[in-house]
Amino acid sequence: MFRKVLLTIAVLMVAIQFSRPAKNISTLHGPEAIDAHYTVPKEIGALLRRSCYDCHSNTTVYPWYSNIQPFAWWQQSHVNDGKEELNFDEFNSYDVKKKKKKLNEVAEMIEKDEMPLNSYTLIHRTAILSAQDKDKLITWAKEFQKTIN
Ligand code: HEC
Repeated sequence: MFRKVLLTIAVLMVAIQFSRPAKNISTLHGPEAIDAHYTVPKEIGALLRRSCYDCHSNTTVYPWYSNIQPFAWWQQSHVNDGKEELNFDEFNSYDVKKKKKKLNEVAEMIEKDEMPLNSYTLIHRTAILSAQDKDKLITWAKEFQKTIN
């Protein structure tokens, strides 16, 4: 009985490896990208890329284990959900109200330590924001939001 269960699990693990979700990789840095229209300070842009872009842009940098299931599904669902909420590469397609709202949420999420996701920084140690990084991003998001009209 136990061996049958193990065998079934093993077969399933192999079977799911054939599922390959489409990857979120676009080399196109389109006209809707936030920095195509607004001047994003270099340092801020670098922080966003380092800590947020894997889930909030059209280009995810995939680690090696993203080819292994079930990690790939789990990861893809984060990317899909993240992008749906906020995509820095589609930012200009949002109306003024939405832009302001999203920037306020950026400040709020960072303030509350809800973003970047803990499950992500557990592995992506370089995405962890220092206290200064957080201050810079929060101040930027709040100030930038005021200039949009
Ligand atoms: C590992 C993927 C991942 C990373 C990295 C990440 N996010 Fe998210 N983010 C998500 C997901 C998934 C959601 C939607 C579900 C949720 O709110 O938890 C989300 C939602 C959001 C929202 C909308 C929240 C709301 O109020 O609905 C904002 C704003 C946001 N993220 C900002 C950021 C910022 C800023 C960073 C970088 C400092 C970041 N995220 C990094 C996955 C990520």
